Amino acid sequence: MSKPAVRVAVTGAAGQIGYALLFRIASGEMLGKDQPVILQLLEIPDEKAQNALKGVIMELEDCAFPLLAGIEAHSDPMQAFKDTDYALLVGARPRGPGMERADLLAANAQIFTAQGKALNAVASRNVKVLVVGNPANTNAYIAMKSAPDLPAKNFTAMLRLDHNRAASQLAAKAGFKVGDIRKLTVWGNHSPTMYADYRFATVNGKSVQETINDQAWNKDVFLPTVGKRGAAIIAARGLSSAASAANAAIDHMRDWALGSKGEWVTMGVPSNGEYGVPKDIVFGFPVTTENGEYKIVEGLEIDAFSQECINKTLAELEGERDGVKDLLK
Ligand code: NAD
Ligand code: LMR
Repeated sequence: MSKPAVRVAVTGAAGQIGYALLFRIASGEMLGKDQPVILQLLEIPDEKAQNALKGVIMELEDCAFPLLAGIEAHSDPMQAFKDTDYALLVGARPRGPGMERADLLAANAQIFTAQGKALNAVASRNVKVLVVGNPANTNAYIAMKSAPDLPAKNFTAMLRLDHNRAASQLAAKAGFKVGDIRKLTVWGNHSPTMYADYRFATVNGKSVQETINDQAWNKDVFLPTVGKRGAAIIAARGLSSAASAANAAIDHMRDWALGSKGEWVTMGVPSNGEYGVPKDIVFGFPVTTENGEYKIVEGLEIDAFSQECINKTLAELEGERDGVKDLLK
């Protein structure tokens, strides 16, 4: 007998990440090849966006995905999030010409306050929320703070793209198979201040750090390459990463829902004080996942260089949190 369908809400569904994401969710790559899904898609009310959404829905229909049990198009989060089990918050206000970071935070605070309130009012009480839209960590924090009746732990931000980028750079440097790398993580904010950390990483039981043994490469090449990869893609493509971002969203949700089988993955999750990160700051941590829950890997040694990197990305997130404080009242 087939499983009952679950509801998956996606915002910004007619955007470029949406176009690389929806077909993979509908084909079962996110929640399993035996899990029917109902897509609840949200776009802004603007006629152009709603028309584009109609076109994407026609294409979804034309794929005749056996697992796609329904598709809904919405312009109101109160409808899009009704009873939803999973919410991928992709749509966000992009930075426009001359826009300061504070303006970007304020514009997105409005969106994520409204969406947090809507999730609070109508979503499943177990909803798993992934924020992709930038600034992802602080948008997740805003949505979480706007949804006091839902468990804070259900609000997460996407650091998986950074994790995957770091794995790929390490594989290229040392000739590893990317899929053999274990115990890698990225701490902090999804921004150039993130700290991609391979001190604990292994390949077939061997230390990645000892194999590479090049601290200058770590500092001068690896960290800047991973940290500025998003900007490098924008410079090359004229558009921000989309297929790789969608792929990371699939990885994040799949591992959260179906388990990481003991492996570490990176998720941006609200802190409970781990590693000195103040409570509720949404921070990239190493986690393992099982039975639909994630658990932060605790007790790792933080050396002086790593502490300096963690302090820097934390200071940025504290600044973002303080910047939206008045908007959350
Ligand atoms: P895009 O501009 O192609 O699409 C965004 C879509 O969101 C648009 O169709 C827009 O109409 C819609 N939208 C805007 N506000 C909305 C709202 N309030 N409700 C519903 N829909 C809304 O952008 P994209 O390339 O798909 O990127 C989306 C976001 O993801 C951006 O903020 C981007 O910076 C971010 N991003 C994050 C990561 C990450 O690793 N966390 C990686 C890549 C991109
Ligand atoms: C990325 O990391 O590719 C994006 O977050 C870049 C961006 O600013 O959209």
